[in-house]
Amino acid sequence: MKNIKNVEYGLEKIFEGAQDFLPLLGTDYVEFYVGNAKQSAHFYKTAFGFQSHAYKGLETGCKEYASYVLKQDKIRLVLTTPLNSNSPINQHLAKHGDGVKVIALWVEDAKKSWEETTKRGAKSFMAPTIEKDEFGEVVRSGIYTYGETVHIFVERKNYNGVFLPGYQKWESTYNPTPVGLKFIDHMVGNVGWGEMNQWVKWYEDTMGFVNFLSFDDKQIHTEYSALMSKVMSNGNGRIKFPINEPAKGKKKSQIEEYLDFYEGPGAQHIAVATNDIISTVTELRARGVEFLSAPPHEYYLDIPNRLGKHMQMMKEDIAVLEKLSILVDADEEGYLLQIFTKPVEDRPTLFFEIIQRMGAQGFGAGNFKALFESIEREQEKRGTL
Ligand code: FE2
Repeated sequence: MKNIKNVEYGLEKIFEGAQDFLPLLGTDYVEFYVGNAKQSAHFYKTAFGFQSHAYKGLETGCKEYASYVLKQDKIRLVLTTPLNSNSPINQHLAKHGDGVKVIALWVEDAKKSWEETTKRGAKSFMAPTIEKDEFGEVVRSGIYTYGETVHIFVERKNYNGVFLPGYQKWESTYNPTPVGLKFIDHMVGNVGWGEMNQWVKWYEDTMGFVNFLSFDDKQIHTEYSALMSKVMSNGNGRIKFPINEPAKGKKKSQIEEYLDFYEGPGAQHIAVATNDIISTVTELRARGVEFLSAPPHEYYLDIPNRLGKHMQMMKEDIAVLEKLSILVDADEEGYLLQIFTKPVEDRPTLFFEIIQRMGAQGFGAGNFKALFESIEREQEKRGTL
């Protein structure tokens, strides 16, 4: 690893060994298939502070589906619902429930990205396609990743419209304020039993990513359950995809619960960065976002121990962190603050993480045990432990 520098997409690193034949400029958007996009959009605006951004549907001449685009700083979410029973989106919804369909990646050249990845073995979802309107043209292409999830490559250098051709600006009179969410720090995928290494290899071979952190079931376990995780990054460090698989424990792990309810592999959580987690989480709580419960008081008493030399640069009041159930972890380079929401659907599937990095590059490994015990308390209530 070399050339660590701050860029607008967070702390950028150049990973030696990664092959940047795409290359990826950042996350472009995340598209969810949902049962009722109009109502989901209201939830993400009200609860998470996203802003109305763009719209496509019957009013814009699209008779197949409605899509609402929401924005907060660099994060774009697209919420899509089919408008009739013939749409293939219905099968996806019936099987998986609401969830992430597309993790779209911003590229210089969508045609080349598709060619480079498909020739390395990726399965095509969408051949390079040029979409145009009066604001220019966008080229998109796509490949399948784990489960039915896809990566769409978006080339938008010749476009200055609001989102993509076919979308119109969405003006709303209801505009709750943002809560300080900045960009997507990482997105985690859950894959099936024994499939983690296969997907690690897939990201290495077809996307040129490197595996830069690994956690096995000896490190990630509680009394009841365990999982394994490997973190993949593209060459410039802007895109990070940890991949989880369940491991054997006395009881059912949260990954297994996810696979049961999503009925297959899929996106487990979206981690979004903030510069001020205390104000972001205070605001999210006031707006009704539900978070996992706090670890015991002893966890907070032990923070100075765990932070060691980084304790002196810590500005946050530990009592406030405890009141908000925010977790703290440290590595060689600094510390990080993080918290996890409960699943945002009725199925215990996708959830969000709010993260503030104070130099640390890890993913909160020191919190895994506290976190999983908290999830197990929820699983117990659901009868799925
Ligand atoms: Fe995470």
